[in-house]
Amino acid sequence: MASVPSIKLRDGNSIPQLGLGVWQVDPNITARVVTDAIEAGYRSIDTAEGYNNEQGVGDAIKRTSVPRSELFITSKLRNGGHARDLALASFDATMKALGLEQLDMFLIHWPVPSQGKYVEAWKTLVELKTQGRIRSIGVSNFNQDHLERIIGETGEAPVVNQIELHPRFQQRDKRAFHKQHDIVIESWSPLGSGRMLDDPTIAQIAKKHGKSAAQTIIHWHLQEGLIVIPKSTHKERIVENFDVFGFELDADDMAKIKGLDQSRGRVGSDPATASFLF
Ligand code: A2P
Repeated sequence: MASVPSIKLRDGNSIPQLGLGVWQVDPNITARVVTDAIEAGYRSIDTAEGYNNEQGVGDAIKRTSVPRSELFITSKLRNGGHARDLALASFDATMKALGLEQLDMFLIHWPVPSQGKYVEAWKTLVELKTQGRIRSIGVSNFNQDHLERIIGETGEAPVVNQIELHPRFQQRDKRAFHKQHDIVIESWSPLGSGRMLDDPTIAQIAKKHGKSAAQTIIHWHLQEGLIVIPKSTHKERIVENFDVFGFELDADDMAKIKGLDQSRGRVGSDPATASFLF
């Protein structure tokens, strides 16, 4: 079975560079999907309160013979739970659903700037980490101004920022700031929610290496030094998406993929304005 590189985080913990994302996985099949992934060799699973499938992730964790210490479980605080008391209650509910004593990573799901409470949420995550209930804390969908604000007000930077990132939306303007603060970028919708899979440039590069489009894109994320969490509900695709080691994209391939970047290539919501509560 392939060994997945791990990324050392600033807080001393390590996260597998490749994991399974379960956004949009039906709660009724989540336990099966996560079990398939663990059997395929995945050790990192990314869920969220807002996905309503933490219970399924928890069932798969209970079911597996893989020791807890080998798994890396991430969840995310719901948007309506930024106030301290709500965040604490939401976190307790997450831990109950997952059946865990300690969470590997907890992220603020969206900053929801219009709500004005993400600093309070961040302080609560810092508190939970200090208590030992979470090993690593981070954020998701934070722009530079949101990051600057939480760092400025607490002196504590997140170790990870999970943002939309794929060949059509490469977020290159964000990379320098993250590097400067040692914040690792984790790519969500790494396949562009599947929309990158029929791209002709990707198809050409995939053919050259004898790989599928999905494998080529996932490998591109790894080669870019990003953490990547592709989603699939199909066992054969879950296996395929993990078989992404043992080849290298050359400079020409990387240049061609760089050329696919579009400033308006986003498939999800804009974090500056997203205000949905869940
Ligand atoms: P499915 O879950 O039906 O397999 P992203 O990770 O960017 O959000 O993309 C997920 C989308 O890509 C889902 O629609 C998923 O469909 C599809 N997908 C994931 N892996 C593969 C693959 N190896 N081949 C084809 N489609 C895939």
